[in-house]
Amino acid sequence: MSIEGSGGLHIILTGASSGIGEATARTLAAAGHRLVLAARRVETLEKLVAEINPSGKRVIAVQCDVRQKSDLEGLVTRARATFGAVQVLINNAGMDSGKQSWWTRSADEVTGLFETNTLAPYWLSQLVLPEMLAEKNGHIINMGSVSGIIAVSSLYGASKYAIRGMTLALRRELLGTGVNVSLVSPGFIRTAMTAKGGKRPLPMPEPEVIAHAILRLLEHPKAEVVVPGWYRPLIWLEQLIPAIGDAVVKNSWKKE
Ligand SMILES: NC(=O)c1ccc[n+]([C@@H]2O[C@H](COP(=O)([O-])OP(=O)(O)OC[C@H]3O[C@@H](n4cnc5c(N)ncnc54)[C@H](OP(=O)(O)O)[C@@H]3O)[C@@H](O)[C@H]2O)c1
Repeated sequence: MSIEGSGGLHIILTGASSGIGEATARTLAAAGHRLVLAARRVETLEKLVAEINPSGKRVIAVQCDVRQKSDLEGLVTRARATFGAVQVLINNAGMDSGKQSWWTRSADEVTGLFETNTLAPYWLSQLVLPEMLAEKNGHIINMGSVSGIIAVSSLYGASKYAIRGMTLALRRELLGTGVNVSLVSPGFIRTAMTAKGGKRPLPMPEPEVIAHAILRLLEHPKAEVVVPGWYRPLIWLEQLIPAIGDAVVKNSWKKE
């Protein structure tokens, strides 16, 4: 899809109040797109809108808890009323599972993580897909993780394995319809999420690397991008020799 002459793409971006989402909002706004930014912390979103689009004509903030279906419906209704048909949906909102093992958590906490990381992208896609298919034009970008490719976490990672499977299969199901589907699989990135998780075993780039990968995906849709790219040989190595993954988890995660 091209933004030339169209006033930019109309994009819904969830989880825009922090980290990767915030960096993506700045990058996409600078590239001339029309953005509907969603998160629970609406005051933070409004400050961001005032900074990146003071007139408020090209970027708006909508308070939305992605675990609440009524909020998701409200988000899409507001987006359509403001900018017309939704052309791009970026399901970025997410939470990690922290240090505490999932089997010591309440059922609601476990469910809440899957609702945020995995189910919300299903519900939001369900709300925008019929319109995208009718228009034969659209792009859904979901946020995965390298931990959705290499098994290191049985709660957070499992939610990312699920969204990876959904995204790659949905892309195939929609081939030829004009609707693109992509997965972004980041390694460790320096954000609020990784700040609270203790020491990480690998270097952490700033969230702008993901924002720029998303901008490139809009111009050149692909099934999946792993960012930074140097995780690719690590993924390949772990899949070839799983004992390497065992050793890394045993010697880094478990010692924190
Ligand atoms: N940082 C990494 O190393 C890394 C690596 C791989 C994948 N990822 C993925 O990248 C995405 C962004 O993470 P990040 O690192 O940028 O983390 P972050 O700085 O903690 O940002 C998380 C964002 O998600 C939003 N969010 C969380 N729960 C929500 C809910 N119930 N409803 C609406 N919004 C919600 C937060 O907004 P509010 O709190 O205002 O609602 C915030 O804007 C996540 O999907 C994460 O799993 C991150």
